[in-house]
Amino acid sequence: MVAKIQIRNLRKVYDTPERRVHALENVNLDIQDGEFLCLVGLSGCGKTTLLNMLAGFVEITAGDILMDGKTLTEDYDKGVVFQEYALFPWRTARRNVEYGLEIRNVAPEERKRIALEHLRLVRLEEFADFYPHNLSGGMRQRVAVARALAFDPQVLLMDEPFGALDAQTREELQELTVDVWQKTKKTVVYVTHNLSEAVYLGNRIVVFIPRPGRIREVITVNIPRPRDPLSSAFIEIQREIDRLIRT
Ligand SMILES: Nc1ncnc2c1ncn2[C@@H]1O[C@H](COP(=O)(O)OP(=O)(O)OP(=O)(O)O)[C@@H](O)[C@H]1O
Ligand SMILES: [Mg+2]
Repeated sequence: MVAKIQIRNLRKVYDTPERRVHALENVNLDIQDGEFLCLVGLSGCGKTTLLNMLAGFVEITAGDILMDGKTLTEDYDKGVVFQEYALFPWRTARRNVEYGLEIRNVAPEERKRIALEHLRLVRLEEFADFYPHNLSGGMRQRVAVARALAFDPQVLLMDEPFGALDAQTREELQELTVDVWQKTKKTVVYVTHNLSEAVYLGNRIVVFIPRPGRIREVITVNIPRPRDPLSSAFIEIQREIDRLIRT
């Protein structure tokens, strides 16, 4: 079966007046339908750049990205959750989730039903009528996840979505993310600095190294879920990735 996303000899060069940056070089990767793929690596190794190219937000310098065998275009349906991707402060949680459905001209009653269904998925049903400033940071990111999923995108792209949260909330949301992924069967590409998070979430983990940003190795995580971060298998993989990142 052909992979959902095929990345072939991908290269990204940013030209700025001051300098030229080789953000990514010779990236080759197949992402399977329904896979949970994590991207890790030191700061500046091109993780966000790759995610933005997968979203169609950033232009490719050379190489190809194919989605279902066809050249990727910006207008395909993807859900995006970035750390700084703020909610609309003037809309309630439910109306934030409805946003993507409004753009797609879904009728009001249907919109409402779908939004509430997705707020239930992220366990925020009771907060549907709250405005973002009356929600905690973790709740806001859950609304962002619900919003990204509400229009049933083919792919979910997440860039350190829980990076700004405290450790406990973050763990809660990791659990929730696995639960949502298992229920929705989306293809997820998830960027994180946190290796424990990557091992907890990913089917596979792509380890990048910088200057130029490129793939060092792809690790398959065969630990059954739910995964115990204190188990020896978990710690061993985490240690291995840590070693790969640093050498
Ligand atoms: N818009 C841009 N213009 C010029 N250079 C850029 C731009 N965006 C990123 N870069 C450069 O490309 C390289 C990769 O950046 P990118 O943001 O993809 O890294 P990252 O792996 O996401 O890092 P971090 O872990 O810090 O988020 C860096 O050297 C960065 O300076
Ligand atoms: Mg980044």
